[in-house]
Amino acid sequence: MVISEQTNKNIIKGIKIGTILKLDNYLEFHVENLKNESYKNMEYVGETIEKIAKTELEKYNLSIKYKNFCAYLMREIMRNVVEHSEAENFKVYLYSNEFGDFGFEVTDEGIGIRKSLNSNPAYSVKDDKTALAFAVRPGITKSWKPDISRPDVWQNSGFGLYMVSNIINDLGGKFEIESGNSKIVIRNGMKEYQNGKVKGTRILVAFNIRGKIDTVGIIKLISTKGNDYLKTSESFSEYATIKTASKASTLIQ
Ligand SMILES: Nc1ncnc2c1ncn2[C@@H]1O[C@H](COP(=O)(O)OP(=O)(O)O)[C@@H](O)[C@H]1O
Ligand SMILES: [Mg+2]
Repeated sequence: MVISEQTNKNIIKGIKIGTILKLDNYLEFHVENLKNESYKNMEYVGETIEKIAKTELEKYNLSIKYKNFCAYLMREIMRNVVEHSEAENFKVYLYSNEFGDFGFEVTDEGIGIRKSLNSNPAYSVKDDKTALAFAVRPGITKSWKPDISRPDVWQNSGFGLYMVSNIINDLGGKFEIESGNSKIVIRNGMKEYQNGKVKGTRILVAFNIRGKIDTVGIIKLISTKGNDYLKTSESFSEYATIKTASKASTLIQ
């Protein structure tokens, strides 16, 4: 079994994004089991995660477009835990309300963002706040050499957190990333630094899933912006040669 699923009625957890979101479901994932499942299916773990996300999203009566889009967002955050956190397991909370708001929260008790980034010899990030500020920028990744065992599209190019945080910002939702003693909250187009208090990493994504949306267009726009930023920003220009296809998502292929 990949996940143990419990709809525990005793867990009463609401998040606020203007309106209140209610907890629908709580899932626990074991990293080793996820990896084994992906080997068994002869696929990359990102694909395994995306499939599981899609199955969970079936419960939300979404259009195919929104389902794929939400699964992409969940995949990027969940695969980060498997690829970077060194945690043995992690939790995913799913939220919604009657106004069409949808949210998910991914928590792990792994090494946290700062320690992970610092495994890249090019970085020496002194505190959690700086680490978070960096992590949401395009092209920031702990991976300093390509993983030859991994297909190109699944290579780490430092676009995951940049994409998800900017997409959610563009859609007028809420994005939170917390690691160690720091937290960034993005909402209403504003970025706010707050104190944090988590052992590993916690990420919250919430936005409204009613109404028309051009998901492919949004992904293209934001990945193009990220690429342009890399080309013009001198300190990151070394990353600018990474191919767009591997950065954005399997959604725009
Ligand atoms: N759950 C996590 N635990 C520890 N570090 C993380 C986690 N999620 C992200 N990171 C760090 O943030 C960096 C940026 O993440 P991301 O933007 O998704 O890029 P990528 O996954 O391509 O490296 C990662 O390389 C990693 O160092
Ligand atoms: Mg990533």
